[in-house]
Amino acid sequence: MQEMIEAVRTAWQAAWDRGDVGALDAVLHPEYVRESTGSLRVIDTAQYKQDIVEVRAAFPDLATEIDSLVIDADGTRAAIFWHSSGTFTNELQGVPATGRRVQTRGSNMITLRDGLIVHERVTWDHTELLADLGIPSLRSAFEAGDIDPIVDVPGGVTPFEALKGFNRQFITGVTVVTAADEDGRPRGLAANSYASVSLEPPLVLVCVQKTSSTYPALFRSTHLGINIMSNEQRDVVGVFASKASDKFAELDWHAGPDGSPLIDGSAASIEAEIKERFQAKTHTVFIAKVTHAEIAEIAPMVYKAGRFFDGAALTEL
Ligand SMILES: Cc1cc2nc3c(=O)[nH]c(=O)nc-3n(C[C@H](O)[C@H](O)[C@H](O)COP(=O)(O)O)c2cc1C
Repeated sequence: MQEMIEAVRTAWQAAWDRGDVGALDAVLHPEYVRESTGSLRVIDTAQYKQDIVEVRAAFPDLATEIDSLVIDADGTRAAIFWHSSGTFTNELQGVPATGRRVQTRGSNMITLRDGLIVHERVTWDHTELLADLGIPSLRSAFEAGDIDPIVDVPGGVTPFEALKGFNRQFITGVTVVTAADEDGRPRGLAANSYASVSLEPPLVLVCVQKTSSTYPALFRSTHLGINIMSNEQRDVVGVFASKASDKFAELDWHAGPDGSPLIDGSAASIEAEIKERFQAKTHTVFIAKVTHAEIAEIAPMVYKAGRFFDGAALTEL
């Protein structure tokens, strides 16, 4: 029995800590199946090995510890309790690396056949890992059925069209959301998804599409800048709504105390520390705590239904 325990420990550590996934062949039955209670995935040996290789590519310094491994008296059932830690260094399944150190733990219920692992049910704290990565998910919002037509809207339009119509009735300002990239270069995009969350604590949010070229820099960054465009910055909005390679080339700007690019001539600018990065499928909702503010005496630009207006020319009701 002790021999069996040692064999599992050796194979596990070789695979997870050194990437020698072939070592698993010594302990996995040819009919091996691995189930995960979190993701509900059911995989075979080949997929398991591929998963390990992928995780190790994202966390090259991964260190896994088996806290305890117990086998029942007749050698047919076993349990492994483990924890792992590593630095999120490279992209994993579309999530850009944060450089953050993360930890997770789990337990595997094992069935043995002919002294080999034939079935494994893995329970691990997926949510803890996601929280550590800084990426809680809004998965509950993505269930099937969310594109059924809305019947009480004239014409029976889809929620997509209805929401577009709704948004066109909503007047906002225009902001440019910025971050410094890995090399300290300024990056930014036009965004009207800004909202104030609370004053105490001073929290704000902004939603950014994951295909944005600014996104990796923003996701990685500890801080972001939000610049409210003034009515004199129509050209600036055009640049930041584009995919231009150096959007700051023709601009006057300065860095906030924590390095976020703040654009001169904006109606107001803030710098904020990123606290949460909620995954909303195509977008990420950044929630950030304001650490610095600059307010100018210039009227803001107004945005409605794809058009821009002079914020100094509003008529009070
Ligand atoms: C008024 C306006 C508001 C916008 N709001 C957002 C937004 O809230 N989130 C977002 O991801 N993109 C938004 N966009 C689109 C981006 O600015 C646009 O996709 C830009 O090309 C992204 O640049 P990048 O890929 O270089 O980061 C908005 C564009 C405009 C003109």
